[in-house]
Amino acid sequence: MRKTLVYFIKIPSTARFPDRDRAFARHWSVNSLRRKASLCAVPLVTYKEPLRRTRVATQPTPQARPMPRAVGIPGVKHVVAVASGKGGVGKSTTSCNLALGFAALGLKVGMLDADVYGPSQPRLFGLHGKPRTIGARMIEPKERFGVKVMSIGFLVDEDTAMIWRGAMVIQAVTQLLREVAWGDLDVMVVDMPPGTGDVQLTMAQQVPLAGAVIVSTPQDIALIDARRAIGMFQKVNIPILGIVENMSGFCCPACNKVTSIFGQGGARAEAEKIGAPFLGEIPLHMTIRATSDEGRPVVATAPESHHAQSYITIATQVWSAIETGGALKPAPRIVFE
Ligand SMILES: Nc1ncnc2c1ncn2[C@@H]1O[C@H](COP(=O)(O)OP(=O)(O)O)[C@@H](O)[C@H]1O
Ligand SMILES: [Mg+2]
Repeated sequence: MRKTLVYFIKIPSTARFPDRDRAFARHWSVNSLRRKASLCAVPLVTYKEPLRRTRVATQPTPQARPMPRAVGIPGVKHVVAVASGKGGVGKSTTSCNLALGFAALGLKVGMLDADVYGPSQPRLFGLHGKPRTIGARMIEPKERFGVKVMSIGFLVDEDTAMIWRGAMVIQAVTQLLREVAWGDLDVMVVDMPPGTGDVQLTMAQQVPLAGAVIVSTPQDIALIDARRAIGMFQKVNIPILGIVENMSGFCCPACNKVTSIFGQGGARAEAEKIGAPFLGEIPLHMTIRATSDEGRPVVATAPESHHAQSYITIATQVWSAIETGGALKPAPRIVFE
């Protein structure tokens, strides 16, 4: 004859399972009985109730961390970031001449040098010395060629290494944005550091960017990084206003033969691939390098020259992209995946 064991189960107090409910306590008891019964090799009859694994909240459910809202800079209508994944491809040179190109269109322009580790704008604009302060907190931007310029380079020596951690860099960039008396500007150009790090994310989070202009040289190794920069801006919902191919072909001053030292057409092809406007090619030219080093940028000092006209054409296209809706995109929200 088969023996059947019938147990009346004493359900343990839920205090034993602080984060479970009573059904779980019952289930636990039944299971422990089952184990005992299997040791005796007898079937166990129990009252069966579906297990509800409801979790008793001992802590509030973690909420998605609220993202800081992008807040405009008072008086500044549009902010354009000039970026690339790589260093040395001509971001600073392009942003300086782009800002001057906007000024040539009759716009009120500011230039924010956000490359805290390697500020170039003081040299490019031929500006030196500490900026003046206004009251207790505000700094007055310096001005040259009709462009208001602010850079950490005004506050530290050219030879001083900025040995700063991310948090300090973010604070510095925030101050350059918010504690400078920019006044009324139609457009602010931001010369970004290379890469996709703290400064880029700070700019994307804190400022409603009208869009980003990507600078790349034509060779693959630069384009790979440019793609990363494009990907980052797309991820944070910032429109790509266009791509500039810098150092695109070298025209020998002796024989006028054009040599594509870094290749040619790579940035144009990339722009076509991602459906972004291609803004133009700037050749690798001695005049651009020399005028930059001398603090006499080509758009300001030789506005009729071929190079200056190329930058002004780029500025015209970027401005029309901003006016026709780039700036109307929603404020960027960072999404981490
Ligand atoms: N089109 C160009 N022709 C010649 N030299 C250039 C050109 N663009 C940039 N340069 C030079 O290349 C160097 C790096 O440029 P820079 O603008 O500082 O790059 P990044 O800001 O991307 O690091 C500088 O010496 C600059 O004068
Ligand atoms: Mg630079």
